[in-house]
Amino acid sequence: MTELKNDRYLRALLKEPVDYTPVWMMRQAGRYLPEYKATRAQAGDFMSLCKNAELACEVTLQPLRRYDLDAAILFSDILTIPDAMGLGLYFETGEGPKFERPITCKADVEKIGLPDPEGELQYVMNAVRTIRKGLDGQVPLIGFSGSPWTLATYMVEGGSSKAFTKIKKMMYADPQTLHLLLDKLADSVIEYLNAQIKAGAQSVMVFDTWGGVLTPRDYNDFSLQYMHKIVDGLVRENEGRRVPVTLFTKNGGMWLEKIAATGCDGVGLDWTIDMAEAKRRIGDKVALQGNMDPSMLYASPERIREEVATILEGFGTGSGHVFNLGHGIHLDVPPENAGVFVDAVHELSRPYHK
Ligand code: CP3
Repeated sequence: MTELKNDRYLRALLKEPVDYTPVWMMRQAGRYLPEYKATRAQAGDFMSLCKNAELACEVTLQPLRRYDLDAAILFSDILTIPDAMGLGLYFETGEGPKFERPITCKADVEKIGLPDPEGELQYVMNAVRTIRKGLDGQVPLIGFSGSPWTLATYMVEGGSSKAFTKIKKMMYADPQTLHLLLDKLADSVIEYLNAQIKAGAQSVMVFDTWGGVLTPRDYNDFSLQYMHKIVDGLVRENEGRRVPVTLFTKNGGMWLEKIAATGCDGVGLDWTIDMAEAKRRIGDKVALQGNMDPSMLYASPERIREEVATILEGFGTGSGHVFNLGHGIHLDVPPENAGVFVDAVHELSRPYHK
C-alpha cells in the first residue's frame, strides 16, 4: 500500500499533533461543481454514476483538484443499503430519493435480508478500491453509511419527509416492528462499513441526518443505541493503522456527551451548537468535526474568513478538530467560495498548533 502523503485528517481524529487543522466538506463532490454535472450527464443518472467505479472515482477526485482538501469521501449514497434490500430506489427530478416498495408493516420487515457487501453492493466496494488507487496516497479516503434510524425514515416514509408521521406512527404504535427493522439495518451497516474498510476506506462516518427530530428518550432507544452497536461491531484497525469512526447526528448538539460515550473517535457537529461550548463539554474525550453553516459560503470572502476564525478560536489550541461545514454544501454556492473557506482553515489554524 502507498504511504499516505497527508494524514492530518486521521491524526486530528486521533488527537495526534498536526501542523494545521485539516478540512473537508460534506457533499464536496456534487452539483455546485460544473465538472460534476458534466460527469453525471455522461453517466446518465445519479445511481448509474454511483455504479460506475471509474466515474465515481472521477467525481470523488474532482473537488481535490480544485481545493486543498485533507480527505476524500467515497462517492455513493446512504440509500444503497435499502436499495440492495429490494425497496427499489429511484430519484424523481427535484424531489429527491423515493422507494417503489416502502416498508409498511411487520411482514415487510421480516422479508428483508441482509445484502451481501460483495454481492448486491459490490459496486460500492469496487468504487472504494478504484478511488484508493486513484488517490495514490494523496489524502485518506472516508467511507460512510447512513445510521439505522435515518435509513429507516426513508424506508418507511418512502422518501424524504418533513413531519416523519409514518415512521413516528410505527415508533409509537408498533415499536417492536421498528426495532426489528433497526436491528437488521445495524447488522447490515456493520457488514457494509467493514467491507468498505477491507476494500480501502481509511476512516468511516455514520450520517444520522434525522436523529435530531426525536425526543431525548427516543433518540437513545431508536437512534443512538443502534449507532453504538455499529461502533462496537466495526473493524478499528486496518493496514497497520487505526480506522477512526465519526458519528454525526444533525441537530444532535444537546446529546454530545452521549454520542461521545459510544466509543467513537469523532463527533460531527452541525452549526446550531457553538464550537467553544462543544469543546468545553467534550474536552479531549473525542475529536470534533465541524461546524460552519454551509450557507456562509454565500457570503463575502472576508465574512467567510471571519467565521472560520471564530470557529477555530472556539475549539482553541491543540489537535482534535476536523474542520467541516455543519451539513452538506449547497448546490448554488459559488465554487470559488469553497476555496476561500478551505484556504482560510489552513492559514488561520497554524497558530493553534505550535
Ligand atoms: O459527501 C460527498 O461528497 C459524498 C457523497 C454523498 C452523497 N450523498 C452524494 C449525493 C454522501 C455522503 C451522501 C449522503 C446522504 N445521502 C445523506 C446523509 C448526509 C446528509 O446530507 O444529510 C442523505 C440524507 C442522503 C439521501 C439523499 N441522496 C438525498 C436526500 C438526495 C437528494 C439530494 C438532492 O439535492 O437532490 C440524494 C442524492 C445525492 N446524493 C446527490 C449527491 C451528489 C445529488 C444527486 C444528483 O446528482 O442529482
